[in-house]
Amino acid sequence: MTRTPLNRRLAEFGTTIFAEMSALATSTGSINLGQGFPDTDGPLEVREAAERALREGRGNQYPPGPGVPELRTAIADHQRARYGLDHDPDTEVLVTAGATEAIAASLLALVEPGDEVIALEPYYDSYAACVAMAGGTRVPVTLRPQRDPRGGGGRYVLDLDELRAAVTPRTRLILLNTPHNPTGTVLSRAELTAIAELAVERDLLVVSDEVYEHLVFDGAEHVPIASLPGMRERTVTIGSAGKTYSFTGWKVGWTTASPELTAAVRSAKQFLTYVSSGPFQYAIAEALRLPDAYYEGLRADLQAKRDLLGEGLAQAGFEVYRPQGTYFVTTDIRPLGSGDGFAFCRSLPERAGVVAIPNAVFYDHREAGAPFVRFAFCKRTDVLQEAVDRLKRLG
Ligand SMILES: Cc1ncc(COP(=O)(O)O)c(C=O)c1O
Repeated sequence: MTRTPLNRRLAEFGTTIFAEMSALATSTGSINLGQGFPDTDGPLEVREAAERALREGRGNQYPPGPGVPELRTAIADHQRARYGLDHDPDTEVLVTAGATEAIAASLLALVEPGDEVIALEPYYDSYAACVAMAGGTRVPVTLRPQRDPRGGGGRYVLDLDELRAAVTPRTRLILLNTPHNPTGTVLSRAELTAIAELAVERDLLVVSDEVYEHLVFDGAEHVPIASLPGMRERTVTIGSAGKTYSFTGWKVGWTTASPELTAAVRSAKQFLTYVSSGPFQYAIAEALRLPDAYYEGLRADLQAKRDLLGEGLAQAGFEVYRPQGTYFVTTDIRPLGSGDGFAFCRSLPERAGVVAIPNAVFYDHREAGAPFVRFAFCKRTDVLQEAVDRLKRLG
C-alpha cells in the first residue's frame, strides 16, 4: 500500500487522549477523573420507562427519522417552559444519536469546503474532527484564564474583540459551547448579546452546544443564544440527555432550529445513523417532564462535589479555576512545579493513583493550554474524597 489508510482530513486526529488515559487508569488501578461520565446512573423511573418501552415494543424497530413524536413534543415543551423558545415539534426538532451526532450533522450540513468555523478554544475534541470532515477550516478563539485578584484561579474569559477580529468574509458559523467544557465558563447574557450582534451584523450561523444547560452553579443563568434578538432563525441549538439525566450510554441528543436549518441538518443526519436509541427516546420523553426538584437536586449534588474536589485540589497545591457550570474543573499545575500537562497526567497515575486530562489536547495553540489539567467531578462523593486524599500526598 503506497497510501496511508487514513485520509488527509483526519490524519491529525490519532487516538484520543481519553482512550490512553482510561487505559492507564485500568492498568494502574487509578481513580479515573479523566473522562466525563457519571459513576451512578440516572433516575430509576427513567430506567423503568426504558424497560417498559422495550417490553411493550415501542422503539425496537426503526423509529421515525426525526425522532419519536413523544420525544420531539417533550423537547419543544422543555424549550418553551425553560427559555420561552417556541418550536414546532414536527419541523423544528430533530432527535440525534447524542449531541455528538448533532454536532457532526450540523457541520456536515452547513459548512462548504473552505468555509471558516470559529470555535472557542479550548474546545470539545469532536469539534475539530467534524469541521475537518466537513472540509472546513477551524478558527480558534482562545478563552483566557483570568486570575482572581483575591487569590486562586478565577474564570476563563472570552475576548470579544478577538472574536470580532476572527470573522472574515469566509466565516460561515460560530460553534459555541456554553456552559463550556473544559473551562466551566458560563457565557453571560451580555457576552452572548455581543456574540449575537456580531452574528447578525456579519450574517453568520451559530451552532450552540448546550449539553450542560442544567449544570450551572451559584445561581448562574444559562441563556440559549437562540433566545436573543435576531438569533432564532440563524441558530442550531444542541441538547443531550446524557448529561442532564446521567445516561451517557443511551446517546439521545437533539437539535432545535428553524424549519430550514432543521431540514438541512436532517439531510446530513439521515445518512449518518438514520435513527438510533428507539426505546430510550420514549424514556427521555418522560425524563424531560421530571419536576423542577430533579434539576435542583442535580445541581446541588454537583455543586457540592465541585466544592469537595476544588477545595481538595487547592489544598493539594493546584491553582483551581472554579467552574460556574459543567462537571469539570480546570487547574493550573505550575504551583506544583510542572508546566507540562501531558507529562504531569502521564505520571499522575503512578504518583498519586488518579487520572486527569491535559487541557492542551483541547487547543490548537497548545502552549496556551500547556500548564492546565482537567478533572471530572461527576463521581460518587467517596470516590472524590479518596481522590483528594491521594492527591494531597503529591508533592
Ligand atoms: C461539550 C460537549 N458536547 C457534546 C458532548 C457529547 O454529548 P453526547 O454524549 O450526547 O454525544 C460532550 C460530552 O462530553 C461535551 O462535553
